[in-house]
Amino acid sequence: MTKLEAVRGDITQQLVDAIVNAANTTLLGGGGVDGAIHRAAGSELLEECRTLGGCPTGEAKITKGYRLAAKYVIHTVGPVWSGGRRREAELLRGCYVNALRLATQHAVRSIAFPSISTGAYRYPMEQAARTAVETVRGELAKPTTVELVRFVCFSAEDLQVYQEILG
Ligand code: APR
Repeated sequence: MTKLEAVRGDITQQLVDAIVNAANTTLLGGGGVDGAIHRAAGSELLEECRTLGGCPTGEAKITKGYRLAAKYVIHTVGPVWSGGRRREAELLRGCYVNALRLATQHAVRSIAFPSISTGAYRYPMEQAARTAVETVRGELAKPTTVELVRFVCFSAEDLQVYQEILG
């Protein structure tokens, strides 16, 4: 039975097998989570990302973690919120489905997710967190190596949202 938990903290400090990056389609770095992960992992991460040829929204690609505690970084690209009528929920679900698919392919046992799309991409937190938890729960009902999923929230308010949804 896979454990789901929410914590307040910095995704780069999580002692898990894989951390998920809230990237953009270039995979060449940015601000927020993306900036923090690249800073913590070191320049080799960007070198590997340069070989990946970008990543479409809703999909995911995996790299090594380099100087991070995590063995892997799973880069996924969330949708930019534009009112909810442009398949945003479906694309956001894809981020979680594809990240967990890559995790299982690489025998990952513990994975930490940020709140994908809820920063620069302006996805409303409550809706994004509900989609995240529901999607992860659905995926964990299928064969997986993942034993722990940790939602890492950057603020106390965000943590409260996840804790209410996790129940
Ligand atoms: N650890 C955990 N969560 C964090 C961290 C961190 N170090 N830094 C920011 N967050 C939170 C934000 O508060 C927000 O709730 O992660 C969530 C996602 O915010 P962003 O990092 O802005 O990601 P996103 O909204 O998906 O936008 C992606 O921003 O950084 C660029 O290159 C990135 O273009 C892409 C876009």
